[in-house]
Amino acid sequence: MDAAPNPRRRIVVGVTGGIAAYKAVQVVRELVLAGHDVHVVATEAALRFVGAPTFEAISRNRIETDLYEGVAEVRHVALGQSADVIVIAPATANTIARLAAGLADDLLTNTVLASRAPLVLAPAMHTEMWQNPATVANVATLRERGAVIVGPATGQLTGNDSGPGRMEEPEVIVAATLQAAGAASSLATVQDFSGRRVVITAGGTREPLDPVRFLGNRSSGRQGVALASAARNRGADVVLITAHLEVEPPDGVSLVPVGTALELQVAVTDAAASADLVIMAAAVADYRPERTSDAKIKKGQAHEGLSLELVQNPDILADLAAHRSPGVTLVGFAAETEPDDERLIETARQKLRRKGCDYLVLNRVGWSTGFASERNEVMMLDSAGDIVMTAAGAKDSVADRILDRLA
Ligand code: PMT
Repeated sequence: MDAAPNPRRRIVVGVTGGIAAYKAVQVVRELVLAGHDVHVVATEAALRFVGAPTFEAISRNRIETDLYEGVAEVRHVALGQSADVIVIAPATANTIARLAAGLADDLLTNTVLASRAPLVLAPAMHTEMWQNPATVANVATLRERGAVIVGPATGQLTGNDSGPGRMEEPEVIVAATLQAAGAASSLATVQDFSGRRVVITAGGTREPLDPVRFLGNRSSGRQGVALASAARNRGADVVLITAHLEVEPPDGVSLVPVGTALELQVAVTDAAASADLVIMAAAVADYRPERTSDAKIKKGQAHEGLSLELVQNPDILADLAAHRSPGVTLVGFAAETEPDDERLIETARQKLRRKGCDYLVLNRVGWSTGFASERNEVMMLDSAGDIVMTAAGAKDSVADRILDRLA
């Protein structure tokens, strides 16, 4: 079954003067590839970071910069009036302040002022500027007037500093823009997994110590659930094997709840027998207590500790790969804390060889990254260990990028 045709939208992409302007090229490209009519309005400062020919080539339309060009066509009004949505990415602190004050001293601010279209802003600036009370008040004003503020994300900024202020990833901005324009479904409903049987594991396994305690991990299940929703939206028949979840599972998928790694192994081995694709996003315990007490373990003497004997769980993914049914594609995830990029990738390559899967999606995890958070940042390696895709953003957009690669 084919997707409904894209509702074609006229989209104005405003680009202002920040280093993140290079990422605006990707925003424009994704909107154009999704079938929309995209017009770039760049400030002079933006063009110091990215040249006009780049935007013209990617948008397939003339770039607009000058308030005093095309005066006869009243362009500053025409663009705003005809837009279905205006997105500004990056939106600098200066632009946000001018918009909040209702100034119209260049083509972009004129266009916004002359428009009734939804306004989406993707702020990008240093943390101090983002947290400055003036910016906080300006953003609140624009929000009150209905502007959609996307991000900023937290991460490495232009210099050595890091913190909130980094522009959100292009796919997140594109999704928010299409949603504001009432065209949100146009990217996600391509039925490229139609008729495919996809098995996905999500959440964290729990290994019981006694009736009330377990060894577990901080996986919320968000990434696995996002993959399951995305695969379902794209036409797949989805079996979602859920270890402990902190989010609601999606409708329209077959749910198989499990507790321990051994239970997950039985469920996934069974479902994989008739699957085209298995994605192991669950965080599986490598060890379980050797004995599970039937009664609650009592506190010992005050000065004595408690030792637990652990035994290794089977490597479910490696076993699936070793006894794979023909035609199945196996995708593992690797959750690593290694801070050094080169060593991180090397560790993933070793894991890929050990597990024998077809793809490995590598995410760096830590106290506030990967596990439990709303966002993820991944690299996807193929069986040769080559990086075939990188993605960062909300877990549902990361899920779609992974499926794009697999499709
Ligand atoms: O659930 P969220 O809060 O959204 O967080 C998402 C996530 C960080 C949990 C997810 O993106 C992720 O990385 N999942 C895999 C976590 C993990 O167990 O990684 P690992 O490097 O220990 O294992 C590598 C692969 O082998 C995984 O696909 C895992 O499912 C599998 N495995 C692990 C151990 C084991 N005994 N058997 C396995 O099959």
